[in-house]
Amino acid sequence: MTQSSPPPSSGDTPRYIAHRGLSARAPENTLSAVQAAHDAGCEWVELDVQLLGDGTPVIWHDAGLKRCSNGRGKLFKLNAESAAKLDAGSWFGAQYRGEPIATLEAMLTLIQRLGMGLNLELKVCRGRNAIELVKAALPPTLAVLPADKLIVSSFDRHALTAARALETDPDRLRLGVLDDKAPKRWWQETERLSAYSLHLDWRKLKIKRAQEIADEEIKLFCYTANDPVTFEKLWDWGVDGVISDDPTRFVTHAEETAARRGSEEKSLDPAAVMNHRQR
Ligand code: G3P
Ligand code: MG
Repeated sequence: MTQSSPPPSSGDTPRYIAHRGLSARAPENTLSAVQAAHDAGCEWVELDVQLLGDGTPVIWHDAGLKRCSNGRGKLFKLNAESAAKLDAGSWFGAQYRGEPIATLEAMLTLIQRLGMGLNLELKVCRGRNAIELVKAALPPTLAVLPADKLIVSSFDRHALTAARALETDPDRLRLGVLDDKAPKRWWQETERLSAYSLHLDWRKLKIKRAQEIADEEIKLFCYTANDPVTFEKLWDWGVDGVISDDPTRFVTHAEETAARRGSEEKSLDPAAVMNHRQR
């Protein structure tokens, strides 16, 4: 049956994940972006984690500071003290002036308080050490979030391997293999890592590969999609969830589709047709 709208959420599998927090409406990867996601009704966020030069894990996407703060140079040149002096909000809007670069610790406290789910992306920038990142970021995350509220993903295979070595139980730590598109033998990596999910670029996904994945146990998430209409066909292909800068667009679209379908079905209901004729 053609669905053209997302199936209902199933158990612990998130259907909608706010990319870098609600990054369409607040500065990405900040505490405000996560609070905004929660306030908009999102239950899950995707966030990037990296290390400062002193080993402090922080929520940050780029190798550099320029795009999303008033700092310059590389993130790894900062320590906790110098990072705390930066403004990671003004670039997005004056009302976010003074927004700090979030430490992983502060972010986990917020996510736990809000009862949200987290897709933590281990972001290994060029020249950075994947193993150190895993050792610093994973234990505090596992200490705070239960298994059903956490998916840890990465493009970096060393990071994923180290994460699996640190927590060998796939039910305690759900790992997501990130790629732009799935290689032909995509299952080799997911099996090796006892992974939970594949996270692929939705623009590069082909129906054949999506259906192959849907036929297996592995979950399929797609990033970063912001147009629910263009994305519609991917639900039919068996995609489990979407990572979006604004998941509320997808929720609204799904509700509108369901309401439209409901009224169409009502108008085709034989009893309703009879009632109409008899009037
Ligand atoms: O985790 C999905 C997505 O965040 C991967 O790309 O560059 O936005 O971290 P990027
Ligand atoms: Mg990311």
